[in-house]
Amino acid sequence: MSGSRSPHLELRQVERFYHAGRPEEVRALRGIDLDIPPGEFVSVEGPSGCGKTTLLNVVGLLDSPTAGEVRWDGRPVGQRTDRERARMRLQGVGFIFQRFYLLPTLTARENVELPMRALSVPRAERSRRAAELLDEVGLSSRADAFPHQLSGGEEQRVAVARALANRPGILLADEPTGELDSANAEAALDLIERVRRDRDATLILVTHNPDVARRARRHLAMRDGRISADQREA
Ligand SMILES: Nc1ncnc2c1ncn2[C@@H]1O[C@H](COP(=O)(O)OP(=O)(O)O)[C@@H](O)[C@H]1O
Ligand SMILES: [Mg+2]
Repeated sequence: MSGSRSPHLELRQVERFYHAGRPEEVRALRGIDLDIPPGEFVSVEGPSGCGKTTLLNVVGLLDSPTAGEVRWDGRPVGQRTDRERARMRLQGVGFIFQRFYLLPTLTARENVELPMRALSVPRAERSRRAAELLDEVGLSSRADAFPHQLSGGEEQRVAVARALANRPGILLADEPTGELDSANAEAALDLIERVRRDRDATLILVTHNPDVARRARRHLAMRDGRISADQREA
């Protein structure tokens, strides 16, 4: 069953200022030009506060730029209504966070079903797909466990399954191994890489760890709200 195809992502002169115009203005993004073809695996590194999370949020439609344009397949997303953008995000983007952000009162299965509920996927279909996804991340036996009953590595695998629930064409991972020990980090990355490859999805992976970044085919570096380096491997 096909999910959403990966869109061609373009950012043109994107700026994101918090408290724009006020004295305490923070210039999180200061003119980003970026082109990411469908299916590319891109790493993003840079010091804390340089704008990495803001960049992911803007690309993934969780946040809107203060100025400039984000385009999906050539079409400026700023022209869509909030409702349309929310739908594009739910269908098109899977976020994987450092702190997992599973809902503590829901089981693993219910957490995976959540993005499908938001799109009103029928119950039977939701439950079938959640079971498949939990199987895919090796957690079939933990479907009814609550987050506090899971290890960090297991929580991140549930979060990966949740990110895949609506079959997004774009995966955005924000320091996904930051809370994991090295063995679990390795396993989580292997999993994220595998699911990306299987789906031919675009993956943008923010990391501080050069060993993690090395897995990508294209490497962005950010400094002070700007892209300071952009290297593609041959
Ligand atoms: N909601 C917000 N309100 C005000 N400033 C923010 C907000 N989110 C991020 N910032 C600021 O924007 C800058 C970039 O933040 P962020 O994108 O989180 O950086 P990174 O992910 O690279 O650490 C930082 O100076 C941060 O303090
Ligand atoms: Mg961040």
